[in-house]
Amino acid sequence: MRRAKISVIGGGNVGASCALWAASKELGDIVVLDIPSAENLVKGKMLDLAQCGPVEIFDSSIIATADYKDTADSDVVIVTAGIPRKPGMSRDDLIATNVKIVKSVAEQVATHSPDAIMIIVSNPLDAMVFTAWRASGFPTNQIVGQAGCLDVARYKTFIAQETGFSVEDINALLLGGHGDTMVPLPRYTNISGIPISNFISEDRLNEIIERAKMGGGEIVKLMGTSAYYAPASGSVQMAEAIIKDKKRILPCAAYCDGQYGIDGYFIGVPAVIGAGGVEKVIEIDLNDDEKALMENSYSAVKELVEIVKTTFPELAEATV
Ligand code: LAC
Repeated sequence: MRRAKISVIGGGNVGASCALWAASKELGDIVVLDIPSAENLVKGKMLDLAQCGPVEIFDSSIIATADYKDTADSDVVIVTAGIPRKPGMSRDDLIATNVKIVKSVAEQVATHSPDAIMIIVSNPLDAMVFTAWRASGFPTNQIVGQAGCLDVARYKTFIAQETGFSVEDINALLLGGHGDTMVPLPRYTNISGIPISNFISEDRLNEIIERAKMGGGEIVKLMGTSAYYAPASGSVQMAEAIIKDKKRILPCAAYCDGQYGIDGYFIGVPAVIGAGGVEKVIEIDLNDDEKALMENSYSAVKELVEIVKTTFPELAEATV
């Protein structure tokens, strides 16, 4: 059986951590691409990682490159390229730089791996997913943004810490953009099927929700740059669902075509993830408060996408 091929674009902290999680799960062969000036550094990191194989027991080939030809015919491409946040920056402050980077990456991916599912991790996430979609010309099922898996993982971690119960038993859902307007949903949060209200008061849960919403910023403040272990772990969770055709329902930035009243944008929604990439967007009933929060998040995403369209007018028009 042919091994799956996973390419990671950007060999910085997030990219290298994606390679680590993917290797540890033995998802397939891994290629990490970076610009020529970083090639040796990334080659060193990947050589180091490959040498964990005999201990951690994986047979994946792991290579680093600066040549897109080495990424050819990937099944999954995880795009982490771009600059990360520094203290005091919001994700949105990165847009001017990262839109150029993600545009050129998506064009290269489309040329070398036309059938790949592209998972976007670069920030500001929702705008970068849109950029990659328009620049690649890919059908919408082949483009998906990682964010919900990370945001919901943060939310679940805080609930596990609060209650002392296993992370395995915590189920939660979160909608909206990957920013301060994200929408964790207490009504869809439970522990082994038991409503969260059974364990945590409304006020305390609201504090936890606020912490989850600001979870990325909390880490930037502590260490001076963006998080990487958990963003990479969320990305590889999606890659695994694609490679193993698991049909998982994961919160991801998926293209909405009328669902949730959103038309023509990528935003965090529950989506079925399998070999076909985003195979379906699942719609759930929202109450009036939840709808208002989603509406607010949608406005924030639209504002960011407007900046993309102004920066690159050629991305403003759909080519597919
Ligand atoms: C975060 C960055 C990766 O949320 O967006 O940590």
